[in-house]
Amino acid sequence: MKRIKIKELLERSATGKEVTVKGWVKAFRSRRFIALNDGSTINNVQIVIDFENFNENLLAKITVASAISVTGALVQSQGAGQSVEIQATTLEVLGEAHPDEVSKTILQPKRHTLEKLREQAHLRFRTNTFSAVFRVRHALAFAIHKYFNDKGFVYLHTPIVTGSDAEGAGEMFRVSTLDPANPPKNEEGNIDYSKDFFGKETNLTVSGQLEAELGALALSEVYTFGPTFRAENSNTTRHLAEFWMIEPEVAFNDLNDNMDLAEDFLKYCITHVLENCTDDLAFLETRLKDEEKSKPQDQRAEMALIDKLKFITDNEFVRLTYTEAIDILRNSKPNKKKKFEYLIEGWGTDLQSEHERFLVEKKFQKPVILTNYPADIKAFYMRQDDELPEAKPGMEVGPTVSAMDVLFPGIGEIAGGSQREERYENLIKGVNKFGIEEETVWWYLETRKFGTVPHSGFGLGFERLVLFCTGMGNIRDVIPFPRTPNNAEF
Ligand code: 4AD
Ligand code: MG
Repeated sequence: MKRIKIKELLERSATGKEVTVKGWVKAFRSRRFIALNDGSTINNVQIVIDFENFNENLLAKITVASAISVTGALVQSQGAGQSVEIQATTLEVLGEAHPDEVSKTILQPKRHTLEKLREQAHLRFRTNTFSAVFRVRHALAFAIHKYFNDKGFVYLHTPIVTGSDAEGAGEMFRVSTLDPANPPKNEEGNIDYSKDFFGKETNLTVSGQLEAELGALALSEVYTFGPTFRAENSNTTRHLAEFWMIEPEVAFNDLNDNMDLAEDFLKYCITHVLENCTDDLAFLETRLKDEEKSKPQDQRAEMALIDKLKFITDNEFVRLTYTEAIDILRNSKPNKKKKFEYLIEGWGTDLQSEHERFLVEKKFQKPVILTNYPADIKAFYMRQDDELPEAKPGMEVGPTVSAMDVLFPGIGEIAGGSQREERYENLIKGVNKFGIEEETVWWYLETRKFGTVPHSGFGLGFERLVLFCTGMGNIRDVIPFPRTPNNAEF
């Protein structure tokens, strides 16, 4: 008999009809009730058995984590907690799970720490928390493609191996087939990369943006959605060495259009999750509440998960410049009382997550988009603003670029982008100022000679969005197999 998924089955009303389900045993109580899950939903189906009808040897093999196939009538449930259940007529054990082995793993049905679950990432999909997280992750990926497809964007696959450093931060992983113990050397005694696989130095990409721009300057509206890599040694709850990024790039869009796109896009994705992941969100919300209870009062999150998602969909994002933000921050209570870890002294320094969160959670109590950052702390490709920002009393300002960062509660920066420098002479100045080698980006520079137009885009860190939507506290828990400093297991 063809198997039916548990999600579909639970949406049916009982008919007495025979069904077959397959899955993993979550619990087996009183030799009578089996809770079965197949990962299609957070909910288990209850199987009711008459133990007298089954062989004792078979029943002994139905243990937590074992895989079974069940056939029986789908009936109205007698007990509380579920509307339907299956009255088993046939039981088959597909894969045994020995209790002594299970008890050494996170499959043992008790509370395990997230750290412990990370050490057994190969098994953690079986837990309620991770099955919920990865279904939400999937829903978000689907919403992203649907959003852009419906708007006529072209999905562009940009390369993973590149010879350029798009962000110019020098945080790249080298790709090479040279023998590390005995690499070929040139006359100056340096490694001769012309002998390497690609005939030049290559790395894993930090961003698909530069290539996406080439696409946008012909197809008008493109987006990328792929893996990106950063060898930054930041062991934080918001950084991964390998993460997925979505980068829309749109010809003829200025910075305001770019902000409109980011706001509309983020609201769409979060609405999709609210509408399509109700059971998983309800589970994750309870999980978060339980976790918060174990924290000291002053460290607890103020919003419940679903309220936090509605905080994004129901509010208009506040838009202000970096210069305005600095003025607010330096006069803020936590700055004056030296509560910030990094105190805001003046104009020109980059903002930390604590500052971004203060603006969102305390000052405006709305999502925030900051714009027009100092040119020195942003990337070479950003459009140079024609005028200096208006300084506040006692503030010394410098040149800015048409950058934007989207800030969310609990996270800080979730997306960052800009209007791009479309003027050839200005772009060359940016390239030189940041010490980028022109020969690594000559193809990028050329687009500014052939029908250059204003254009804009941004990058959304996919895992930061999943982190936000699931209420998880650590980015390592929203990607199946996290890559972080000193960690590439599995
Ligand atoms: O701000 P970033 O560095 O911007 C870019 O890469 C641009 N090329 C994007 C563009 O304009 N097309 O990165 C974009 C986003 C960040 O806002 C953050 O959400 C995420 O990528 N991100 C990371 N996520 C996880 N781990 C890391 N190490 C990340 N670094 C950036
Ligand atoms: Mg950024």
